[in-house]
Amino acid sequence: MPIVVVVGGQWGDEGKGRIVDLLARKARVVARYSAGNNAGHTIVNERGEFKLHVVPAGIFYPEKTCVIGNGVAVDPEVLLGEIEGLESKGIDTSKLVLSDRAQVIMPWHKELDRLDELARGDKAIGTTGKGVGPCFVDKVARRGIRVADLLRTEDLRPRIEAALSFHNRVITRVYGGEPIDMDDCCARYAELGEKLAPFAGDVQDIVLSAHRRGDYVLLEGAQGSLLDLDHGTYPYVTSSVPSSSSSGAGLGVGIGPTEISRVVGVFKSYSTRVGNGPFPTELFDDTATMLRDHGKEYGRGEYGTTTGRPRRIGWLDAVAARYSVRFNGLSALALTRLDVLDALPSIKICTGYELDGQIVETMPARESVLDRVHPIYEELPGWQQPTTEVRNFDDLPPQAQAFIRRVEELLECPVDLISVGPAREQAVIVNPIF
Ligand code: IMP
Ligand code: MG
Repeated sequence: MPIVVVVGGQWGDEGKGRIVDLLARKARVVARYSAGNNAGHTIVNERGEFKLHVVPAGIFYPEKTCVIGNGVAVDPEVLLGEIEGLESKGIDTSKLVLSDRAQVIMPWHKELDRLDELARGDKAIGTTGKGVGPCFVDKVARRGIRVADLLRTEDLRPRIEAALSFHNRVITRVYGGEPIDMDDCCARYAELGEKLAPFAGDVQDIVLSAHRRGDYVLLEGAQGSLLDLDHGTYPYVTSSVPSSSSSGAGLGVGIGPTEISRVVGVFKSYSTRVGNGPFPTELFDDTATMLRDHGKEYGRGEYGTTTGRPRRIGWLDAVAARYSVRFNGLSALALTRLDVLDALPSIKICTGYELDGQIVETMPARESVLDRVHPIYEELPGWQQPTTEVRNFDDLPPQAQAFIRRVEELLECPVDLISVGPAREQAVIVNPIF
C-alpha cells in the first residue's frame, strides 16, 4: 500500500495540518519526519481547535499509530506538555511513538538561538526562537543529544558534559552570556528521559511493517519547502529538510525513496511568510490586511501558530511554487484557503519576474536578486460568492474553476484536493489521494 508524503509547498502554514487530518482517515500510521516545535499545525475537529507543534496531526484518530521520526528535533518539555494537553481533553496518546534516534533540543540550543539572532542585528533570520536551528547544527557537528541518550543516565552525563562545556565557552566568550549549569541540566534531562521512555521506540520498523502489511502510511511534513536548507531562500531558511527532495521524508523516518509512492504538496491560494527573507509577491496594501484578517474573529487569521507574529501576505507566486513542485517531485497539489479569496473582485498570480529588463521564470539563488525582482502578474476575475459549502469541483463558480485550472498549468501539477474552510468536511476532493 502506498506511503504518501504531505509537504508544505511554500513558506509554511499552507494548511498541512488540516490536509493531514483529512487524509489520516485512511492511514494506519501517521509520521512526522522533520523540523521541531518551530512548526505549528492548527486542526479543527469535533473536539475543538488544537494547535500542535510536535505531535503528528493524526493523533485525533485513536486507532492510528502516530510517530515522531528521527528527523524531528524534539524539545522534551514541549512534547510532554502537548501530550498532557491532549490527554486532558480526552485524546488518547498511548499509540504515540518517538524515535530513539531523534535529536533533543537542549537548553543551550534555545539560548544560542536567541543570542545568535541578537548578534545578527538587522540581518536576523527571524527564527521562531525554539532552538531548532542550533539543535540541527549540533547534529551535523556530531555533538547532538538523542532521545536514546536521555534514556540511560550513564550515557547522558558524558554527552551533556562534552556538548555543554563547548557551548558554555561559546555562550560566555563569544556572546558574553551566562553559562548553563551542568548538574542542573543533567538532572533535569535524566528526569525528562524517564517521562519520555514509555514513548521511545523503533520508528523504521513501525513504518515499514505497516507498509508491508498493506496499510496506508502518511508522512507528515512541517514548515514549507521554500524554507528548505538546500532549496529555500538561503540564508533565510530553517535548519532541516521540510521538503521531500532527496527523500528528506524517507530520511526522517528511516526508509528509502523507493518506498514512497506519492508526494502531495499543500499550497495556499495566495502566499504567506513569517520571519525575514525574500518574498517577491509581498503586498502591503488593503488586500494584505483583508487576507490576513479573514476569519480573525474565529482565530483563523494569518498569525503564526507558534509565535503569534502577523504573517506577511502576498499573491500566489507561480515561479517559486513551480520550483517547489519540481524539487519535491510532487504528484499532486492540495490547494487550501480558496474561500479566503471569495470576496475579491480579481485575483493575481505571479507568472514570472522582471529583472533588469529581462524576464526570469526560474527561481534565482541569490537573496539580493530576489529582493530586486518585480513580479509579473496575470489577473483573473474573482467569483465574489461563498465557496465554503461547495463539495464538488463542478459546483465551484466558473471563475474559481478557471483559477484552479490556471494554477495546475503554471505549477505543472494536478490539483487533487481543495479546501474551502477549516472543518474536516470543508473540502472538494477532485481525485482521491489514497
Ligand atoms: P527556525 O526554524 O525557528 O530556525 O526559523 C527559520 C525560519 O523559518 C524563520 O523565517 C521562521 O519564521 C520560519 N519557520 C520555521 N518553522 C516554520 C513553520 O512551521 N511555519 C512557518 N515558518 C516557519
Ligand atoms: Mg504552521
